[in-house]
Amino acid sequence: MTGSEKTRLKVAVVGGSGYVGGELLRLLLPHPAVGDVRAFSESHAGETWGGVHPSLAHLGGGKFEPPDTAGAAAWADVLFFALPHGRSQEVIPEIPPAGPPLVIDLAADFRIHDQTLYSAYYGEHKAPSALEGFVYGLADVEGSRLRGKGRIAVPGCFATAALLAVHPLAAAGLLGETPTVFAVTGSTGSGVKPKRTTHHPVRAHNFFGYSQGGHRHEAEAAEQIRRWSGEEDGAIRILTHSAPIVRGIHATLLARVKEPLPDPGALFRKAYEGRPFVTVMDSPPELAAVVGSNHAHLHALSREGDRVVVVDCAEDNLVKGAAGQAVQVMNLALGHEETLGLGFGGLYPC
Ligand SMILES: NC(=O)c1ccc[n+]([C@@H]2O[C@H](COP(=O)([O-])OP(=O)(O)OC[C@H]3O[C@@H](n4cnc5c(N)ncnc54)[C@H](OP(=O)(O)O)[C@@H]3O)[C@@H](O)[C@H]2O)c1
Repeated sequence: MTGSEKTRLKVAVVGGSGYVGGELLRLLLPHPAVGDVRAFSESHAGETWGGVHPSLAHLGGGKFEPPDTAGAAAWADVLFFALPHGRSQEVIPEIPPAGPPLVIDLAADFRIHDQTLYSAYYGEHKAPSALEGFVYGLADVEGSRLRGKGRIAVPGCFATAALLAVHPLAAAGLLGETPTVFAVTGSTGSGVKPKRTTHHPVRAHNFFGYSQGGHRHEAEAAEQIRRWSGEEDGAIRILTHSAPIVRGIHATLLARVKEPLPDPGALFRKAYEGRPFVTVMDSPPELAAVVGSNHAHLHALSREGDRVVVVDCAEDNLVKGAAGQAVQVMNLALGHEETLGLGFGGLYPC
């Protein structure tokens, strides 16, 4: 082992057999700052990572170990949790106070601090005291403010797309009323366990809405909009749909603004100036251009006397909306180059 390898990070992934866990392993194995990776899984303990995630077969890696939160916490410099919602709040409190310097959770459990907002969408939180210390890691907006943070909750996939689309308007105090996002996702958004609506004959040539009475990601998005706008009743509607695609989210924001905004593209370009993973396009983005990458492509226009703004955002739900953003927040928290290990493009056409 060389001197530089000795100083590389020890990283563990809990929930490594799921779709997000697999993406984390794909990104962490070749990451230049990562030296050693371990992954934990109950249902696949003892199996090779490549056997469970075939795209990892040529990348090396090891075997899944049975769940051991305390052991992982004692070993790792960085501990990622890619567990289903509700499970994180059961296991993260098992981490001793002197636990790893950096814990990154990908579930919704530690994203929302306002318990009224949280319980309206998720019910009662089982470990509210563990929320303390967690910050919301919307990497492309928070950027260097994540430096030195030790507990980071990665935003949800729909919330990431919706918030990237609404942030420049909310931060400029321009939101006139509750904005609406029409959002479409692929089947990987539902996780690795087969369901009727992810079964190929049902999904492959189908399109339908769901959770339209109030999608859970509205809660975390509302909390951030309130932070940015200073308006305590800030909110957003996210109307979610399932499309016959495997990966990706395409979201369209429709927002009435307080004063005419003839050139919203200029506002968006200024807001994301210098941000490496957000590109404001001259025409509406195509999903296939970002699939497989950590990039979000946005486009903004105005209509109805410039009082209504329409913003499209395209991202990969498993990369920008999950594992890629998690690696980006790791880079930011530890003071590495933000783009380290993430400098690859999309798969267009795919
Ligand atoms: N899929 C997405 O697009 C996406 C995007 C952003 C965020 N997220 C969030 O990231 C987390 C992981 O999502 P995912 O799509 O990777 O889910 P997934 O494919 O269902 O994987 C979750 C993993 O957690 C483990 N697990 C441990 N306890 C479990 C339990 N009680 N029930 C079911 N699984 C359990 C399972 O592995 P073992 O049983 O082998 O231990 C499973 O492989 C979720 O909180 C999700 O909301 C997902």
